[in-house]
Amino acid sequence: MESRVVLENDAVSLVLTSDGHLPEVVHWGSPIGITDAAGIDTLVTAAKPPRANNGIPEEEGHRLAILPEQWASWTGHPGISGSRRGHGWAARFTVDQVLLDGQPVDGFVRAERGTITWKATDPDAQLALDLVVELTSSDAIRMRATLTNTGEDGYQLDQMLLCLPVPSRASEVLDFAGRWGKERSPQRGTLGIGTHWREGRHGRTGADSALVLHLGTPGFGFQEGEVWAVHTAWSGNHVHYAEKILTGDQVIGGGELLLPGEMVLDHGQSYISPWVVATHGTGLDEIAAVHHRYLRERSDVAGHQPVDAKRPVTLNVWEAVYFDHDTDRLLDLAERAAKVGIERYVLDDGWFGARRDDHAGLGDWVVSDQVWPEGLHPLVDRVNELGMEFGLWFEPEMVNPDSDLARAHPDWVMQVPGRMPLQSRHQWVLDIGIPGAYEHVKSQMMALLDEYRIGYIKWDHNRDIVDGGTSPDGRPGVHEQTLAFYRLVDELKAAHPGLEIESCSSGGARVDLEVMQHCDRVWVSDNIDPTDRQQMMRWTAQLLPPEMLGSHIASGASHTTGRFHDIAYRAATAVFGHLGVEWDLAKATDDEIAQLGAWIAWYKENRETLLAGRTVRVDLSEGVYLHGTVTPDTAIYAYTELDLAPVWSRGMVPLPGLDPDARYRVTHLELTAHGRELPAPVEMTGRQLATHGIRAPHVNPERTRLVVAERIA
Ligand code: DGJ
Repeated sequence: MESRVVLENDAVSLVLTSDGHLPEVVHWGSPIGITDAAGIDTLVTAAKPPRANNGIPEEEGHRLAILPEQWASWTGHPGISGSRRGHGWAARFTVDQVLLDGQPVDGFVRAERGTITWKATDPDAQLALDLVVELTSSDAIRMRATLTNTGEDGYQLDQMLLCLPVPSRASEVLDFAGRWGKERSPQRGTLGIGTHWREGRHGRTGADSALVLHLGTPGFGFQEGEVWAVHTAWSGNHVHYAEKILTGDQVIGGGELLLPGEMVLDHGQSYISPWVVATHGTGLDEIAAVHHRYLRERSDVAGHQPVDAKRPVTLNVWEAVYFDHDTDRLLDLAERAAKVGIERYVLDDGWFGARRDDHAGLGDWVVSDQVWPEGLHPLVDRVNELGMEFGLWFEPEMVNPDSDLARAHPDWVMQVPGRMPLQSRHQWVLDIGIPGAYEHVKSQMMALLDEYRIGYIKWDHNRDIVDGGTSPDGRPGVHEQTLAFYRLVDELKAAHPGLEIESCSSGGARVDLEVMQHCDRVWVSDNIDPTDRQQMMRWTAQLLPPEMLGSHIASGASHTTGRFHDIAYRAATAVFGHLGVEWDLAKATDDEIAQLGAWIAWYKENRETLLAGRTVRVDLSEGVYLHGTVTPDTAIYAYTELDLAPVWSRGMVPLPGLDPDARYRVTHLELTAHGRELPAPVEMTGRQLATHGIRAPHVNPERTRLVVAERIA
């Protein structure tokens, strides 16, 4: 059946047409004001490709579906790659029904938001497809497809990709790479003919994940340039890509990366793709704002608490004690934490089984009576008495070969038949796609959650999944593993309402929009050096809002880089996320403790602004950072220089994001004086602050100045 669809509101527009085949995108971008079917047809006529010698077939025209099909002359990546032993590999779907929010659509439909479903079949390939496109309340467009095998024999799906076209004026690509300790490093280039193809094959999202793949007009930045972006919301193997073919058409898209033979659909079985989330806006800040709203309004998982700005200030003991679980020392740390205003105390790795270092014990989630003869009760009770919530570290999807679990169930280790996988950090992956393994880890975790008042889990995942086969048939099991992880998180939360879970993975290697439908914050990186954190926080914010970014104040000398920074810089960097402390407070000086207490108190007073606001970032020269968070009445900005400026002053810097017509009082803030005289407060309008700006604060290298703008009544 034919259909014409306009999903459009003040922020974004998606116009689609279908002559009975899978829908083509006529327009994706700024609102365009189409109100009827004829308007769509006019856009199609205006976009008609030229008759090129030896070009695309004239008869069928040229179609680019959200799920591209090669019969329609699309010579880029097809939406579906797969076959039933060499048959049914070139699908050509016919749409049987179109629904808007579950109601049948007849011909033309226009909506400001909603979910459109095209139900299609291909009787020859013996496949059925439900293609879903939703314009969400956050203004993100998300797409997913369900493929069902209607044939008798098995259909092997090798890949399913969903994409959207982007105008050719957007020629510059920005996405991310990274490694342990330096997650989310931006990389830019120009898209030529061919494919910019970013695979994640780590069995987890990956420290080097593309994160968000942007295509924008040349030179686009935080505030400027038209930008189209895509994110594959999946924590297993996945793809992001941008592709330009010889017709001049270009797309951005993504999907799951399936391993060979991983997805063989028997009769009646279905594959559901991850959400591919697409955003459009002016500048990177608008793209980030849509992602932030998407997560702030997360609704996929029933019963999950919204993550609000009242994030409890956390102490995590890892960098304080590592594996040295001495009860007295940890109790002493709890006393010190409570005194500086900490609200949540997290016991990290080392409390269970034979886990006295990282060689043994993973998989045995029972409190070690060697280090905790009375169980965790003395610590949990004292933490609670001190008014703090207790949190506990787990790494549920892992097993050390030296563990009771691995000895009892070597078959529960993800493996290729006939050989055990290489170890990484002395560990293997526990195949929680196997029901027995899943139940084992779930029951051990539930027992602890039942016995102790645990409000928070730090959920770790410290290795890549290679040789990720599942027993007994040896097929790839990463897809099932990923779903089992989500399910386990959901089941634990359902049984323990209010439980929060952090997604940690060797630091920040599991950061994506799907994991954040289930978890409540991420550990941005194991590297807490504030200079590296300036960059990692800035770019992780392209996907996640500040209240979901685990952001700690560590000891003066960074355990990762060895660089030393004073507490003012460490704290001013950390307060733009979910604040924590990861530092042996017994080794801090009285002065440092006093400063830490002052920063925590200031954070508590200002966290509604720091965490609930809109993130703004400004493009300045290399090594000079300006970012902030803006609420209707207050904005807090942070200005940082990494090196000594080659000039006396770096000139004027804008303070964007404020109400243009409101007046603000702008004050420089230093909780700890650096011996510099602070500029006097000024009163200006939001428009003046965004255009004229203020003189760049005078700061030493690796120092941050906070600037607060408060609306004047
Ligand atoms: C890796 C995490 O990122 C660290 O914070 C810590 O929890 C260790 N694992 C513990 O093994």
